[in-house]
Amino acid sequence: MNPASNISKSRPDFALEARYYTQEAFFTAARDQIFFRTWQFAGHASQLKNPGDYLCFTIFEQDLFLIRTRDAAGGSGALRCFFNVCQHRGHHLLNGQGNRRLITCPYHAWTYALDGQLRAAPNSDQVPGFDTQKICLSEIKLEEFCGFVFVNLDPNAKSMDECYPEVRAAIVKACPDIETRKYAYEHHCNEHCNWLLAVENYNECYHCPVAHKAFANGVIDPGSYDIQPFGAGRCLRHASLATQSEVAWYDVSGSDYCSFYLWPAMSIQIYPGAMVNTYHWRPLAVDNTVVYRGWYSADGEMDADLQKVMELDRDTTFAEDLKLVKSVQRGLNNRGYRPGPLVLDPQGGIRSEHSIASLHQWLHEALA
Ligand code: FES
Ligand SMILES: [Fe+2]
Repeated sequence: MNPASNISKSRPDFALEARYYTQEAFFTAARDQIFFRTWQFAGHASQLKNPGDYLCFTIFEQDLFLIRTRDAAGGSGALRCFFNVCQHRGHHLLNGQGNRRLITCPYHAWTYALDGQLRAAPNSDQVPGFDTQKICLSEIKLEEFCGFVFVNLDPNAKSMDECYPEVRAAIVKACPDIETRKYAYEHHCNEHCNWLLAVENYNECYHCPVAHKAFANGVIDPGSYDIQPFGAGRCLRHASLATQSEVAWYDVSGSDYCSFYLWPAMSIQIYPGAMVNTYHWRPLAVDNTVVYRGWYSADGEMDADLQKVMELDRDTTFAEDLKLVKSVQRGLNNRGYRPGPLVLDPQGGIRSEHSIASLHQWLHEALA
């Protein structure tokens, strides 16, 4: 089956056919044509401060790691991203997160410098022509964007600013100290659904007044909430005034709510009062995705307000969404499901699903 030929048959003003979320062919096509060609969030620069600090992560089946190199003076150099695989016979190099002066493969002890260059290989002087200078770890593109580290497996990928024009400036405007924010906390969970279902659910707030009463009263002002494509790239901007309600989760005065979803699997959110947090998703299987929630503060600590909001979000919005998407994934396997029309309100607003239509358009373009 060619997913591209099928997607063109779907109606733009309707929910997609279930197969987009349930069939392996679409999952594989999304891997190759979306996730291996777009910018993926890997971590926050503040998580890798010192030379040799590293952080492992995986995009589909591709194991990768970020590492902080050393500059000429011995201080912290640039961040780089390598495939987590030894160039000898393919063993995995690093696990989890930590610090290394050198990267030594556990299999035969080939040893690489922080810049990926092979330094030593036991007994290799017996091999005619063996040249450590010619062997280097495989590297992928990396960019820092407002302190967030993104990587791209496509060597020809356009820059973040070309893919998401105007977004960097808008984030800096909403949170002027964004570049110096520090990673404070992250939690994650398996979402038992397809990645596309997860990001569709994230990018519409038609369900917020129904399913997220705590968020809809405690953080945002539902009457002002809107989601629109932003900046001529594949970005959706969520924007709202801060809640006016007496049940606000914290002192929301100062600034409003906005979030910038960057296709396909990351969103930078700025809650009222410049409270910075993120969502990102990593697909595990056609019906399983890991969702991550990150929180960032000026000093890398969770102050009382941040801790409270993180916990309230985790126990309400985040938990509520887990149930919703699990139910929908099950429903998509129900033979009785016929995709219904999207509720597209020309005025936009919280009760419109026009953002879903944008996602479907981007999906269509990527798979075409
Ligand atoms: S596979 Fe790494 S040293 Fe042999
Ligand atoms: Fe939700």
